[in-house]
Amino acid sequence: MEVYSEKQQITAALDSLRGENLNVGLVPTMGALHEGHLQLVKKALTENDKVVVSIFVNPTQFDNSEDLTKYPRTLSADIALLEAIDKASIIVYAPTVDDMYEGQTVSQKFDFEGLEFEMEGKFRAGHFDGVGTIVKRFFEIIKPDKAYFGEKDFQQLAIIRKMVELSDLPVVIEGCEIHRETNGLAMSSRNTRLKPQFKEAAPFIYKTLKAAKEKFGTESANKIVDWVEKEFSKHALLELEYFIIADTKTLKPVKRKIKNKAYRAFIAVYADDIRLIDNIALN
Ligand code: PAJ
Repeated sequence: MEVYSEKQQITAALDSLRGENLNVGLVPTMGALHEGHLQLVKKALTENDKVVVSIFVNPTQFDNSEDLTKYPRTLSADIALLEAIDKASIIVYAPTVDDMYEGQTVSQKFDFEGLEFEMEGKFRAGHFDGVGTIVKRFFEIIKPDKAYFGEKDFQQLAIIRKMVELSDLPVVIEGCEIHRETNGLAMSSRNTRLKPQFKEAAPFIYKTLKAAKEKFGTESANKIVDWVEKEFSKHALLELEYFIIADTKTLKPVKRKIKNKAYRAFIAVYADDIRLIDNIALN
């Protein structure tokens, strides 16, 4: 499998592929790959001749330096997982911080028309400027025809779509469903850091999301929010940061549901010092 760490090398390799009229898909990741990531890669392989998987723990999107230091880095295991899927069609790009930021590890400031001020934007200062900066940089280097993002980070997906729309970037964004453990826990690179009792407790998050979805047919959003907050206040191990029912397009919280609009519930929870997020379509 081709593995590149330098911009010049991967650009040259991709230029020659484009000379052969091959389509290129991009799956941006921060590594510590799990089945959720691999689903994105598999989907990309069905729709493109070559798929670049970028593996880069992006410092500018972390608002917490401890989270950045402790973020799992497992490059050789990641490469082995990708090799097992398709050695010939996958290209790994694992650049260094210097290669991506050229000595200036700072974010560009973005206007995502308000999407950046909701949910994750409220609790993780500067996070989406960091995400926008790095994803835009990957788009410029790789020049993919299509790029793949998971609904696990639904707000991130919405923000990337907005960035592409506002800057008229020549890439098609594809969203992929959330991949879960059999117990319902959304797969995440951070799950590997959960201590056993927290790992056991964490499926409560999806269980509560599903119960909220059941209630959505008959109860007001406010009442459901109150119920979820109460459920978590009784929980001995999990600490709720936010639970919000929001309009899928604007990501603004709703109080009353309106016909013909799509809604989703979004949640962030601390399991010990590990922050987990999840979401579910309500209608
Ligand atoms: P990371 O958390 O590694 O996720 C990479 C991609 O995999 C994202 O699009 C994410 O939504 C998707 N993903 C993660 N877990 C998933 C799951 N259980 N089901 C479906 N998709 C899942 O998100 C990032 O990295 C970074 O912010 C990045 C976009 C790479 C920019 O640095």
